[in-house]
Amino acid sequence: MNVLQQQSLFPELNEELALPKPVNVASVPQRSPFRYPGGKTWFVPTFRNWFVNRFTKPSLLVEPFAGGGIISLTALFDELVSNVVMVEIDADIAAVWQSVVDGHAEWIAERILSFDLTKESVMAEITKKNVDERERAFQTILKNRTFHGGILADGAGFLKRGESGKGIKSRWYPNTLAKRFKDLTLIADRMKFFKEDGLKVIREYSQKKDVVFFIDPPYTAGGKKAGKRLYRHFELDHDRLFTLCESIEGDFLMTYDNADEVKSMAKRHGFEIRLILMKNTHHTTMEELVIGKNLSWMDH
Ligand SMILES: C[S@@+](CC[C@H](N)C(=O)[O-])C[C@H]1O[C@@H](n2cnc3c(N)ncnc32)[C@H](O)[C@@H]1O
Repeated sequence: MNVLQQQSLFPELNEELALPKPVNVASVPQRSPFRYPGGKTWFVPTFRNWFVNRFTKPSLLVEPFAGGGIISLTALFDELVSNVVMVEIDADIAAVWQSVVDGHAEWIAERILSFDLTKESVMAEITKKNVDERERAFQTILKNRTFHGGILADGAGFLKRGESGKGIKSRWYPNTLAKRFKDLTLIADRMKFFKEDGLKVIREYSQKKDVVFFIDPPYTAGGKKAGKRLYRHFELDHDRLFTLCESIEGDFLMTYDNADEVKSMAKRHGFEIRLILMKNTHHTTMEELVIGKNLSWMDH
């Protein structure tokens, strides 16, 4: 079972505040068809608290670095917002979200159900050139499910042993995946998608008071280079992102790897910071920074 705890970065200022109860992350419904590196399923409970504590239903959630999109999808399924704008610059991932918005989720679901997955059939499919958008979406899902770690960046390779020695098939659950796509037809008309630079879209929506942003950028600053291996598009002007966040009239929540230079950048731009810890049964601890305008709701 996964548990999630939240800690103040400045415990000395916070001695009287008890840590919140650990949250059972296994209870978060998995809405995304992606297994996504840096995916934010574990962040969903914190995201829900943000909404419950801060807003009456805002009109729009903008997710400028959508990736697997779990936060936008959850916000729609849970009726936390009426509409979302998802943005992603990677053309493979973009093909999936664009296809869903264009009404092809059912087609992708059927394609998944009728595909006989072997290493040869995957190779034949993913090397097809000049395919239409929904076929490209299917290719992306195949790669995401059969490549090691779900990584789509150049240099990624097939799963070798996989789960219980099942190799390439070990993350291919056609029924579950098809159901996730079919379910997306229920919310597709409330999704907008742009294959764009997330920074540009933040600027476009920044002056609207009833718009909120969930910002999960590829992190590549400083010593940690994980983003470089995980994402095809990993370069970002982080300082510019922080400056843009200052101009947001509504509200935003941003997540980052826990690194000193991120903390100083957040302080320089006048934002608050909290550290989130997530432990699983293997005793590995994930740490992530949450950055925002006002995070006092996280302290109780
Ligand atoms: C940390 S991941 C987001 C993960 C996502 N929150 C999830 O739960 O799956 C960052 C994403 O930003 C995308 N990206 C990188 N640069 C971008 C840009 N300038 N504009 C839009 N998306 C970008 C990457 O391709 C990657 O998918």
